[in-house]
Amino acid sequence: MKDLLQLSTLSVEEIQHILDVAELCRQGEMIDSEKGRIVANLFFEPSTRTQYSFNTAQLKLGCKVINFNAQASSMQKGESFYDTVKTFESFGVDALVIRDRKDEYYRELIGRIHVPLLNAGDGKKDHPTQSLLDLMTIRQEFGRFEGLNIAIVGDIKYSRVAHTNIEVMQRLGMHCYVSGPQEYRDEQFDYIDFDQAVRQMDVIMLLRVQHERHEQAMSISTQEYHQKYGLTMERVNTMKEKAIIMHPAPFNRGVEIADEVVECEKSRIFKQIHNGVFVRMAVLKRAWED
Ligand code: NCD
Repeated sequence: MKDLLQLSTLSVEEIQHILDVAELCRQGEMIDSEKGRIVANLFFEPSTRTQYSFNTAQLKLGCKVINFNAQASSMQKGESFYDTVKTFESFGVDALVIRDRKDEYYRELIGRIHVPLLNAGDGKKDHPTQSLLDLMTIRQEFGRFEGLNIAIVGDIKYSRVAHTNIEVMQRLGMHCYVSGPQEYRDEQFDYIDFDQAVRQMDVIMLLRVQHERHEQAMSISTQEYHQKYGLTMERVNTMKEKAIIMHPAPFNRGVEIADEVVECEKSRIFKQIHNGVFVRMAVLKRAWED
């Protein structure tokens, strides 16, 4: 039984192995290989991609799935997070996939829940399966990580995607930069001017401004954001020939990304979403390994 809480606790070899298994899943292997297992998806924060991509992965593996709906549950009667999770463990499910808005929500579960726990995102800390699908997409594109340059642009400070990715990408030998408005910067990372990043990077990864995590409204308008940090077709035309565009989604057309860039030739956004299913099949299989 193996949890997946943070990528930082996995070695580079383990990460590469998960990506290898995900590639096998992409080639159509592993279908129905976990038949009969029951998995519960407990999302205490909204999600489209992560939740239903886990759901698709579970169905491909032949699992039976429970999608918990917090809004229609006894949490509305005051039941706690811990008691809700403990209830699902008591049902006898074979794995739990959990997302919550609290950083490291899993701390209160460690040693008290005896079923594999897969982190589908905790607050602004970690999003291991998102990073794995990002890595899978980059590896497919370039065949390596070593020496690649990436700029992650936007709401870095509140982004679990940025935090997880930068830690693991640096370990894999990538050069990571951040860009975007001062108010969302995280000073621990190397800053690069946006237009310079667009011209020089191998990967431009855009982020959504996560208004729901902010106490204060953004100081600039969405039009100004788009003008200064939005990836427009004009900017895309200055990118290197082999450079690609990524975004974890949901994206805001006309803010961090222009409408026509979403599905342009350099965009790998829907490929990332596609890869997400295979990465999640791989981490589910890993959860049940000895
Ligand atoms: C991200 C998340 O939830 O952290 N989305 C995702 O999982 N694909 C990023 C976001 O919400 O902006």
